[in-house]
Amino acid sequence: MPETWNPGQYEMFSEQRQRPFADLTSRVAATSPEIVVDLGCGSGAHTLALAERWPHARVVGVDFSAEMLGQARRHDRDERVEWVRSDVESWDPAQLGAPVDVIVANSLLQWVPTHMRLIPGWVEALAPGGWLAMQVPANFNAPSHTLLRDVSARSPRAAELLPRLVRGEAVSEPAVYLFSLAGLGCDVDTWETTYQHVLDPGALQGNPVLEWTKGTALLPVFEVLSDEVERADFVAAYGEALLRAYPRQAFGTVFAFRRIFAVAHKKG
Ligand SMILES: C[S@@+](CC[C@H](N)C(=O)[O-])C[C@H]1O[C@@H](n2cnc3c(N)ncnc32)[C@H](O)[C@@H]1O
Repeated sequence: MPETWNPGQYEMFSEQRQRPFADLTSRVAATSPEIVVDLGCGSGAHTLALAERWPHARVVGVDFSAEMLGQARRHDRDERVEWVRSDVESWDPAQLGAPVDVIVANSLLQWVPTHMRLIPGWVEALAPGGWLAMQVPANFNAPSHTLLRDVSARSPRAAELLPRLVRGEAVSEPAVYLFSLAGLGCDVDTWETTYQHVLDPGALQGNPVLEWTKGTALLPVFEVLSDEVERADFVAAYGEALLRAYPRQAFGTVFAFRRIFAVAHKKG
């Protein structure tokens, strides 16, 4: 999993990335939570939205990327949020000193292959009546990802690249989250959505799906290909394949994106 993130590249599609977060958190009905935690908070825009929604809550953002947390602190001019640098695998909710009312993990758990083992601890950390809301991308069989694996398989560095591109295996189907969370004593709302994102309607970006993946899916590849020439060759081959798979339409480039959502409400 990549430790080096590029907040600017990630935020290029903030409008499209905001939608699943809004859809997820719209199903959390907490009215006046005291402690709200955003796991894998990234560059913090969504954490700040949580702080705005619940102005009296103590809000904590947890992430292991120094770059993402640096950007989050820059966005948080009023120092409203406690930003914590930690791997979520080792983050201990007990350090908050009180049960948590809301835990959000938006677009995080695909990077955390052990997450099914972590979920029980997070549910246990919730106060009675607390909420755990998670969303994971589930588009690992879409061309954006199959082409990444194809180009990696043809690369001289295939043996190093391919093992890093297995995130699809980390994500479970909606029913798995439903059964797991219901088994932990929660009322559960689970669903999936395939967004038809229309990228770059103004035709300013040349290859918008490539720009999207540079902010996420390509990061594990970039960690292996630190040599500029090697990286440029890879990006050229992958970019060309993406343009064939996602041709520009008169109104923009259509990027279909499946996502899985689960909102668990711990019984009061
Ligand atoms: C795709 S971004 C999502 C950011 C934010 N939640 C959002 O909704 O935009 C994933 C974030 O998870 C963080 N991350 C990935 N694995 C992590 C881990 N094991 N522990 C903590 N943070 C992690 C990355 O640093 C990155 O900031």
